[in-house]
This record gives sequence, C-alpha cells and structure tokens, in this order.
Amino acid sequence: MKNIKTYIEENKDRFLEELFGLIKIPSVSSKEEHKDDMMRAAEYLKNSLLEAGADKAEIYPTEGHPILFGEKIIDKSLPTVLVYGHYDVQPAEPYDLWKSEPFEPVIRDGKIWARGADDDKGQLFMHVKAFEYMVRTGSLSCNVKFMIEGEEEIGSESLGKFCSRQKDLLKADVILVSDTTMIAPDIPSITTGLRGLTYMQVEVTGPDRDLHSGLYGGAVANPVNMLCKMIASLTDEKNQVTIPGFYDDVLVASDLERKEMAKRPYNEKEYKKAIDVDALMGEEGYSTHERLGIRPSLDVNGIWGGYTDKGAKTILPARAYAKISMRLVPDQDSVKIARLFEEHFKSIAPEGVRVKVEYLHGGQAYVSPIDSKEYQAASKAMEEAFGKKPIPVRSGGSIPIISTFEKTLGIKSILLGFGLDEDAIHSPNENYPLFNFFKGIETIPLFYKYFTV
Ligand code: BES
Ligand code: MN
Ligand code: MN
Repeated sequence: MKNIKTYIEENKDRFLEELFGLIKIPSVSSKEEHKDDMMRAAEYLKNSLLEAGADKAEIYPTEGHPILFGEKIIDKSLPTVLVYGHYDVQPAEPYDLWKSEPFEPVIRDGKIWARGADDDKGQLFMHVKAFEYMVRTGSLSCNVKFMIEGEEEIGSESLGKFCSRQKDLLKADVILVSDTTMIAPDIPSITTGLRGLTYMQVEVTGPDRDLHSGLYGGAVANPVNMLCKMIASLTDEKNQVTIPGFYDDVLVASDLERKEMAKRPYNEKEYKKAIDVDALMGEEGYSTHERLGIRPSLDVNGIWGGYTDKGAKTILPARAYAKISMRLVPDQDSVKIARLFEEHFKSIAPEGVRVKVEYLHGGQAYVSPIDSKEYQAASKAMEEAFGKKPIPVRSGGSIPIISTFEKTLGIKSILLGFGLDEDAIHSPNENYPLFNFFKGIETIPLFYKYFTV
C-alpha cells in the first residue's frame, strides 16, 4: 500500500488546484446575492466526494442554503465516522485591505491566501483528500459519511432541522470536525471545548427625527449617548458582566483543571505582538486562556447611528444601534441568556428613549472528555503525525451546531483542527499554511486507523 506521505507528494499540485476551484466560488452565506454560489459550492463538493470514491453524494435543498450529504458504506457491521464541515464563508470586506483578491487564491510565503483558505474550505478539503487516499489504497477501515452545510457562519438553522429529521441517515459512532485551531505547527493540540453564543441586536430610539444639535442638544436624550452609557454599564471595573443572573449557570472549573490548563505554552509578549496591542484586558482573577476557555464574555461587534459621513453635521440623532454578542460556557443556556439580556437592557434604558432588543442567533457551549475512544484515537494520530503528544485545549470560538449534534443525534464530536490563531479567519488576508493543509491530510487517515482498531 502506498504511504500517505508519498501519495501527498505525488498529488499535491492536484489537491491544491481542486481546493482552489472551491475557494474561487464566493459562497458568502450572509448575502442574498450569493445564493447561486452556495449551490455551486455544494455541487463542486458533491463532485469532489464522488470522484474521491463516495458511493453516493446528494444535495438536500433547505429553506436556507443546501446541505450536502455523502457516504461510503463498506460494511454495515463496522463503525461509521461522520465528517462535518461548512462550505460557507464570511464576507471578505473590506476588500482594500487584502494584499491579493479574496476569491483568487494564491500561494505566497508557503501559505494559501484567500477567504475560506482555512475556515473552512481548506480544513474541510483535507478530509475529502484523506478519504480519497484511503479509498484508492484500499485502506479505508470503516464507513464514512459526510455532512457539509452552508450556514455555519449564520447560525446553522437548516442543519439543526435536518438533524432532527434525518436521524437514520446520520447514524454514526463519532463526528469528526476540522474547523478549529491548534496551538502552533510544532505544538499539536486537540480542542476539547467550544464556547456557546448569544447574539443580540439593539435599537435605541429618541426623537422622531434627527434634531438640530444646537436647538435641542443638552435638553433632549441623545440615543447614541444613551446607548454608549448603557453598553458601558454592561461590564464593571472587574470586567465582569453586570447582567443579573449572567453567571448563575457557569460551571466552575476545578483547581486541578485550571492547573492543567496553565501548563499549555503561552507567551504573552508574542500574543500581544501578533495582534499589535500593548496590553491585554479581561476578567479579574483569570489568565488569558482561562478568560477564553472557561469564562463567558460580552462584546460589541458593531455600533452605528447618527452622522458618519465626511465632514461635520450638527445633529442629535433619532436612533442608535448596536450588535452585541456574548460568548458562553457550560452550562449557560443561550436562550436564557438572551432573555436575561433583554430584561436587563430594557431596565437600564434612561427616560426619554425607547429600546428594542432582538435575538439574532445563538447556540450552546460544548465540552468533550479526553478519556473517550475517539479522543484517544485523535491523540495517537496527532502524536504519530507531529511526533509530539497533543495538548487538550478549550477554545474561545463557537460552532453551535456541535452541541446540537450531541443533543439531537446523541453523537459526540472530535474537534481535530489544523488552523492557527494567526490564519486571520474572518479578517482580511485569511491564510492557511501549506504545512498544516498537508499535515492534516496525513493525520486524518491515522485517526481512522486508531479509531477502528
Ligand atoms: N471555525 C469557526 C469557529 C472556530 C474557529 C472555533 C477557531 C475555534 C477556533 C466558525 O466558522 C465560526 O466562525 N463560528 C462563529 C459562530 C457562528 C455562529 C457565527 C464564531 O465563533 O464566531
Ligand atoms: Mn468554521
Ligand atoms: Mn467562521
């Protein structure tokens, strides 16, 4: 049987060419104008799966974006690995900050530069190529299913419904996902936790029109001023969230767990340098990785209102808006947090303004044990491919559908991510190192091997 490294070496140009074909389709899920691109991306991947050796691959239309399901069943009595990934990407704006076109992938400095290069087209495609290798070399040791969606970046609503309806189709022993990061190319890690999310939009309304700020300024509540005050009061001097009840369901990590977490390599100086800040900020009493992994947070994602064009216009705006997200940890419930937020935010509105609160989307946090068969298989696979035992880490990011998989399908996920923090996902100049792409393809078949022994 051909060795995986040789197989990659002989086929790497084709792998990249095929991945680039997928990246070139601007499948931005949040924008109506890309509706056709969503279908094109799903179809592209359908062909990729069939060419790689799937018995069948089918596109399921939804009220949102299509879901692709594919499988190869070699023996019903063998275990089944269900691979999950998403073909949708975040918008590429602002375009002028990109050094090369976001949907024209290029290789520079040993990295692929493009929107989706890492999140999640690059990481997902590693699974298609690892599958191809196993099929073509006759080394596939279990059944494989693929479930690929186009709404991860906007809340996975359709896939949630799909899971409730298609429990039989999706039967599997483990869900395998590459959509997270590892600590560094020479420090492998496996993600054992994801934060949940509650995403809100608020509107603060004052007078029925923008007013002259000389004739009215100082005598009428200004919605932008009021919104800023309200937002400022959502966290206190310890950088804790002030919403009553917000921390009620937060699971307190044991001292032992915190001690284990502290063992991960972390260089604060480099961390700051990588994002060009001269100080870090967060909840008092917790380290950076504790703040990210085991503590919830609240952030304004965007704020607007009033006059923002060139020059000055002297007005007292009629309205102000903000998008506010909260990252949650076990056992906070995203719907309950949304309710607490709404009640609190309305209660702090000063006289003279009205407040509207809307829930955009959310999902639950996820944790996975490290003594499970699938974690052990992932750990052995990474150890063999990287020459070092991977470290379990709780990530600050969210993939809300992962907790739905557990709840609806009763299947645990293994988060075997090969991205890096510095890959600039969701930002201009997203990139994915070729090393990680090929190392991922090398590691995945080892997971199958150790999972099925
Ligand atoms: N792949 C990311 C999540 C991620 C990245 C987790 C790195 C851990 C490490 C995913 O595509 C994503 O961006 N998720 C969104 C949530 C979604 C509901 C918009 C997020 O975390 O903001
Ligand atoms: Mn992703
Ligand atoms: Mn993303």
